[in-house]
Amino acid sequence: MSLNPEIDYGTPQSKAEKTVTLTVDGVEVTVPEGTSVMRAAMELGTQIPKLCATDMVESFGSCRLCLIEIEGRNGTPASCTTPVGEGMVVKTQTDRLKRLRKGVMELYISEHPLDCLTCSANGDCELQDMAGAVGLRDVRYGYDGARHPNPGIDASNPYFTYEPSKCIVCSRCVRACEEVQGTFALTIAGRGFSSVVSPSMEQPFIDSECVSCGACVQACPTATLNEKSVIDIGTPDRAVVTTCAYCGVGCTFRAEMRGDELVRMIPNKEGKANRGHSCVKGRFAYGYAHHKDRITKPMIREKITDPWREVSWEEAIQYTASEFKRIQAKYGKGSVGGITSSRCTNEETYLVQKLIRAAFGNNNVDTCARVCHSPTGYGLKTTLGESAGTQDFDSVERTDVVLIIGANPTDGHPVFASRMKKRLRDGAKLIIVDPRRIDLVRTPHIKADYHLPLKPGTNVAVVTSLAHVVVTEGLVNEQFVRERCEWDEFQDWAAFVADPRHSPEAVEKITGVPAEAIRGAARLYATGGNSAIYYGLGVTEHSQGSTTVMAIANLAMATGNMGREGVGVNPLRGQNNVQGSCDMGSFPHELPGYRHVSDSATLELFEQLWGRPLDNEPGLRIPNMIDAALDGSFKGIYIQGEDILQSDPNTQHMAAGLAAMECVVVQDLFLVETSNYAHVFLPGSTFLEKNGTFTNAERRIQRVRKVMAPVNGYEDWEITQMLSNALGYPMQYDHPSQIMDEIARLTPTFTGVYYEKLDALGSVQWPCNEAAPEGTPVMHIDSFVRGKGKFVITEYVATDEKTGPRFPLLLTTGRILSQYNVGAQTRRTANVVWHEEDRLEIHPHDAENRGVRDGDWVKIASRTGETTLRALITDRVATGVVYTTFHHPSTQVNVVTTEFSDWATNCPEYKVTAVQIAPSNGPSEWQEEYEAQSKAARRITEPLVAAE
Ligand code: SF4
Ligand code: SF4
Ligand code: SF4
Ligand code: FES
Repeated sequence: MSLNPEIDYGTPQSKAEKTVTLTVDGVEVTVPEGTSVMRAAMELGTQIPKLCATDMVESFGSCRLCLIEIEGRNGTPASCTTPVGEGMVVKTQTDRLKRLRKGVMELYISEHPLDCLTCSANGDCELQDMAGAVGLRDVRYGYDGARHPNPGIDASNPYFTYEPSKCIVCSRCVRACEEVQGTFALTIAGRGFSSVVSPSMEQPFIDSECVSCGACVQACPTATLNEKSVIDIGTPDRAVVTTCAYCGVGCTFRAEMRGDELVRMIPNKEGKANRGHSCVKGRFAYGYAHHKDRITKPMIREKITDPWREVSWEEAIQYTASEFKRIQAKYGKGSVGGITSSRCTNEETYLVQKLIRAAFGNNNVDTCARVCHSPTGYGLKTTLGESAGTQDFDSVERTDVVLIIGANPTDGHPVFASRMKKRLRDGAKLIIVDPRRIDLVRTPHIKADYHLPLKPGTNVAVVTSLAHVVVTEGLVNEQFVRERCEWDEFQDWAAFVADPRHSPEAVEKITGVPAEAIRGAARLYATGGNSAIYYGLGVTEHSQGSTTVMAIANLAMATGNMGREGVGVNPLRGQNNVQGSCDMGSFPHELPGYRHVSDSATLELFEQLWGRPLDNEPGLRIPNMIDAALDGSFKGIYIQGEDILQSDPNTQHMAAGLAAMECVVVQDLFLVETSNYAHVFLPGSTFLEKNGTFTNAERRIQRVRKVMAPVNGYEDWEITQMLSNALGYPMQYDHPSQIMDEIARLTPTFTGVYYEKLDALGSVQWPCNEAAPEGTPVMHIDSFVRGKGKFVITEYVATDEKTGPRFPLLLTTGRILSQYNVGAQTRRTANVVWHEEDRLEIHPHDAENRGVRDGDWVKIASRTGETTLRALITDRVATGVVYTTFHHPSTQVNVVTTEFSDWATNCPEYKVTAVQIAPSNGPSEWQEEYEAQSKAARRITEPLVAAE
């Protein structure tokens, strides 16, 4: 595949429906009204020279290189700032224009350092290209004119450099930071010839407000802002389009390569989820793929106290298969199970659940969605009939009121947050329901209209109270409800929410949210135009997670905010493929496509194609597997790409369960915490080393393409296939596309999905079938998937996790932009410069009461355990609430979280733990012991890593 860079049309696409026809250099072209002349010319393939224009940002008109002549008009306007007009006749190449353009270029070149041959951007520099394009052969002013201020190179950012002497002050970087990223970290400081790009208050990048998204680097036409990887390796010579393996936004990238080395990741403008943007993780944090900790050879050991022994793939697979067979023969068919990975591809996930159902012969399969979005599946399926978000990301551009509940998009889903911020800057209103003052409450040019800082654990009370206002103030969209929903159930629900005990005034005592704020937010949501709800784990990871999801769906249906662009209910999914892992049948009660294992017609279909009798009883969920291990009835587990010891609650319980098993198989990139209890370690492959698909939070299925050979020798699906064959259940796929073909044959929402279509269209959103051959951007348009929308009574039940004199504070947890999940990948990249450790956020008042100063070590104790970390004093959290992230194993914050979980799905109640905080001298004894144990458990015989 060649590098084949994406076309830069110079200015953004106009979305106007009306079109305009003009003539450019004698050729007619028809474009949407509002298009620039520059873009209209590019549509014809006519490139007008440009420097300050690029199609990711609005035109600025500063460089004067893109001049044109228009018949009947005086002068030579800039084509990037001139909109097309009906009948316009444009000339882009006349002697006058050529002369003027050369003059402009002479001025630029006369003051630019002339180290082109040794410049890192040589061959990839628009200034160079434009000098060629205008035919510059000489510079009348010489080459040693005054230079711009040169305060030296700023290399403080781990991923890119800033070299001001090469800056042409085109301001593309400043505009990219404002318009695309929405951070406003850059300005042009100084005046005239002394103008210079400045991060924040003339600070180094690392100390500025920059969040390292790289949009400015991508926008820069020169080497002024340049990736360090390009400086080190050289410019790329080929590119492969693939999909980010971090979060559920699902940004697509051009992985730009030189030979077999990855030079840089450039967000794909054609990517329908990201539209050419990225965050620091996807663009820069891929170095883990070649980190020295990567395990590349299989290892086995009989006891977890033994050292690891490197073995051949053949031995590892045969040993694993024989262990599972031995265990099943001794303890029964149901004594083994497995966990699929939401980081792996759809095809890999599908194969793991197939192996468990067909080769193990039971339904003991679960996935990490158990601990994050399983309530979304339950809640949306019950109310709407489908376990997924209702919209595409583009929909936010039509939204008038954004309601965010329990999500922190700027950290958790940064690229979607940038798109949302753009809409908010353009005038949409904003309501935030969150115990913490997340960034979006107040960020440059955005201020939330309402922030409801509720007490953790009271989501149901708040959302039901919003519904109370809607119903009692006559704000229900009755026509929508009568046409689209179960009317009798609606009436029961309306009577329920209208009860005075759900009024904002009545729930204020429970939620801590002022009644007036709830009333105002409800009125705005119900009457502000198109209203859309976006929610995250702050909704689902509660004992009433499923109830809140249903309360959210009730609210959206009651106000008619469903079934069109700009509205809907949108779970912001955490991991890159958590939607896909759920779709692919990773739950113990559901086959692919969310069909219950007891559904005999479905079961028969699978039995026929898979050639094995299948169990029609739901299998064990992760917590049940651990409990069964402690009971002695569950003895073996195959875990693909999931660090359950670190990510699941109540670490001690989890560790005891794993320790009680006779064969724990971990397939992963690194010796993650769970592998301390493993008997077999099967090295996994990164997203750069495999083919397949991921499905993002919009139900968008996108290709993952192999960029380099797997350092362990195999893609993950091949390992599962080898294991299945060794277990005696044959699998013979040559390529993941064949697995997708099988998924399509078995899953009604996927019948139209195949690789050639994905390659042609870029992506499709399921359902993709005969009724919707190109996929379904917005769901439930004419009717809900279940027919009529179902209103469900959502009684608030306080969690059993109560504060009291021993544990007076409520701990809630979340994520930070630079780190990802349990940090196994991001901790092995330069991203650690932004987040070396998990910190405990505590309100100044609570800190003072406990004698805790900023940066002090503190002990955090709950009734299940205790750990130690350092304090960060901030009023982002309210009094009575503390907050931390969970990215570092040395913190082991899940030692303190409890065994409480969602009533419907067992999703753990991570977001509410009663704790006490006290000053401490440093890491607790338990942590030191744990660290020592981890080291011992990782002992190996040989150096591990082939790739440095
Ligand atoms: S990297 Fe992103 S946030 Fe930082 S200055 Fe550039 S555009 Fe702004
Ligand atoms: S740093 Fe690059 S993008 Fe920014 S003004 Fe200078 S040349 Fe233009
Ligand atoms: S927003 Fe998510 S998918 Fe996009 S680049 Fe960042 S981590 Fe990757
Ligand atoms: S590209 Fe039009 S003025 Fe710079």
